[in-house]
Amino acid sequence: MTDLPTLPPEQDAPTIPMIGAGMQRVESVLKVTGQARYAYEMDAASLGAQADPLVGVMVLSTIARGRITSIDSATARNMPGVRLVLTCDNAPPQAPWGPLVARDRFARAQPVLRGPDVHYYGEPVALVVADSLERARAAAMAVNVQYETASHAILLDPATATEPEFLNGFKPAHTDHGDFDAALARSAIRVEAVYETPHQNHAQMEPHATTALWQGDRLVLHTSAQNLVSIQMGIAATLQISPHRVQVISPYVGGGFGGKLPYFADAILAALAARALGKPVKVGMTRTQMFSATTHRTATRQALRIGADRTGRLCAISHDALSHCASFDNFVEDTTTITRGLYRADAIRTTAHLNHLDLPRSDSMRSPGDAVGMIGLECAMDELAHELGIDPVELRLLNDTPTDLTAHKPFSSRHLRQCLEEGARRFEWGARNPQPGQVREGEWLVGMGMACAMRYNLLKPCQALAHLDAGANLTVQLAMTDPGTGTQTILTQIAAGVMGLPPAQVHVQMGDTAYPPAPGSGGSFGAESAGSAVLRACENLRTRLLEAGLRDEHSPLHGQSMESAHLDAGSLHARGRHESLVAFMERTFPQGAQAHGEITANPDSLKWSQASFGAHFAEVAVNAITGETRVRRMLGVFACGRILNSRTARSQLLGGMIWGVSNALHEENMPDPRTGQFIAHDLANYHIATHADMPEMEVVMIAEDEPVSNPLHIKGLGEVGICGAPAAIGNAIFNATGIRARRFPITPDRLL
Ligand code: MOS
Repeated sequence: MTDLPTLPPEQDAPTIPMIGAGMQRVESVLKVTGQARYAYEMDAASLGAQADPLVGVMVLSTIARGRITSIDSATARNMPGVRLVLTCDNAPPQAPWGPLVARDRFARAQPVLRGPDVHYYGEPVALVVADSLERARAAAMAVNVQYETASHAILLDPATATEPEFLNGFKPAHTDHGDFDAALARSAIRVEAVYETPHQNHAQMEPHATTALWQGDRLVLHTSAQNLVSIQMGIAATLQISPHRVQVISPYVGGGFGGKLPYFADAILAALAARALGKPVKVGMTRTQMFSATTHRTATRQALRIGADRTGRLCAISHDALSHCASFDNFVEDTTTITRGLYRADAIRTTAHLNHLDLPRSDSMRSPGDAVGMIGLECAMDELAHELGIDPVELRLLNDTPTDLTAHKPFSSRHLRQCLEEGARRFEWGARNPQPGQVREGEWLVGMGMACAMRYNLLKPCQALAHLDAGANLTVQLAMTDPGTGTQTILTQIAAGVMGLPPAQVHVQMGDTAYPPAPGSGGSFGAESAGSAVLRACENLRTRLLEAGLRDEHSPLHGQSMESAHLDAGSLHARGRHESLVAFMERTFPQGAQAHGEITANPDSLKWSQASFGAHFAEVAVNAITGETRVRRMLGVFACGRILNSRTARSQLLGGMIWGVSNALHEENMPDPRTGQFIAHDLANYHIATHADMPEMEVVMIAEDEPVSNPLHIKGLGEVGICGAPAAIGNAIFNATGIRARRFPITPDRLL
């Protein structure tokens, strides 16, 4: 660690008007008035088709593993309005599943109805298409599928786990910094604990849905997706056609959270049926179908070992994580990522193990890896603080590090200390009684807990196109998505700010693979990737306009220097002279002018580790008689670089904290050992936090500049809000009760 790069000299981040302000979502009125059209709402007029789409309903398997021995679809085919029944007996040929080793797993082929084998309970085994939803649903119930069942494995089991060669994105599955065994052996104080987290299911407000239409040999898919370019590749691969013949359209997405990074059977089934029938077909999933026919967050079992000297300096940390993936998949929950870099220790070891189970696919759910991994790490740190008799905030401050030890890189910006100190001050942490179980108010035991938050930052390649028409209306296009996070709004702010236009004159068009490629929304990379591409496109367009203006003999700016020239309030300006953009455009660019912009991670920026940080504080009251936990107040303090939009940023962070309450206290699914079906499969019995569970919550974003990652000087913040939030609540429960619940969620039965 001798040759640390020095940070580039403090530069002024670009000052872009509009940025930082809490502008309201530009599409909100369209959404709340029903004018925003979602994938399942496409009709004849919006498709430019002769008739409304036919309706497909999926039939799902009712065994977890085995073979289909027969499918009797004759009754269904003869029911009124039924046009098609697709099963493994008549499904058109598709590419085989995979490849398993792929740079982009969302671009893989995922065939449907691929044969008699059943891989999990609730796997699509047939599609019934009819002229109405009611008729399709009635006929779907009449499809008679017979199975030969085989035994299934559905529980995490360390004894049968295997070590994957690598994690997603080719990260190593096993990391070592220093000599862990030696460092643990010389630790005066040791904590060894196993934490368990449950399966969790996606339940976005908008269920998965696709409307498919063929225009000759071109497929147009309206679907609800986070990541259009990848799934365009995957769908084309499945159908064995060129990606250029697949257009994916997804302008409005009713929630994603990682569950719409992949595409699912609705997309392929709609495409196959629409091609077979020569008519548009739509396929939506019911809430219950989503609990099996999509992806979920895997359960984990995490063994933590932490050793420290008596002053609280960490000697050794190890984090061994077990998760599951579907029998035919290789997704690994990256549970230990944060353990590799959050603290200074002499030695840090992480490992990953995997069970291939007869369950639906596990994949990303908000802050995959870290949301669960920080439960193990941050609860174990709390156990260590208690053993040492050191305040938990103090223990974190003592082991703060400017360097990511496993990655051997300095952090580009890390204000964890400020988050901890500011949070402790605001939360009046000093009033906490460090002795557990001492504060009682009637039946209620009261306690306070805290945890750190961290999420690595990522910039993905992105492009954008900016076009200004003769009337000075700006259109920006890119194949980006907005799953409700506010992406369209921040892109509008950036474009308006750079071009000196009011936001009403800026139209950001997204959600279509016909536009320049974008990485979509996921991994907290959306804002900086798409935002930087839009920034570049608009800067290039601004340069083009200003250069033309300075060259133009008819312009009042003629002959002025580029340094003095700028766009503001709908005009070109230079040295006190100005001309309105409308007058300039009509004369100089009557057809309009456009420019392209592109961003990729600057290789130099990768010499630094980049991450967003935060600190969570929670106060709980636990009922001594019933075991019920009420969160009384919660505070999250975050450092995520510059903030593009204070309103939407706060919503993201707050949403993560709310989900943290749900993770800590409520949310859990488990497969029924007899059938392999997830026991909870709708929102009537899948328990999530509601308004009534929500305490007083406060989000604070501290001022920070991110100097290397991207030209906007921002960092991702979509996911850091959930990281550590459940641990803060678990630690508060320990402080309240003296009970160390290591199995999440901490339901009342686990406290009695
Ligand atoms: Mo991200 S896993 O798409 O919230």
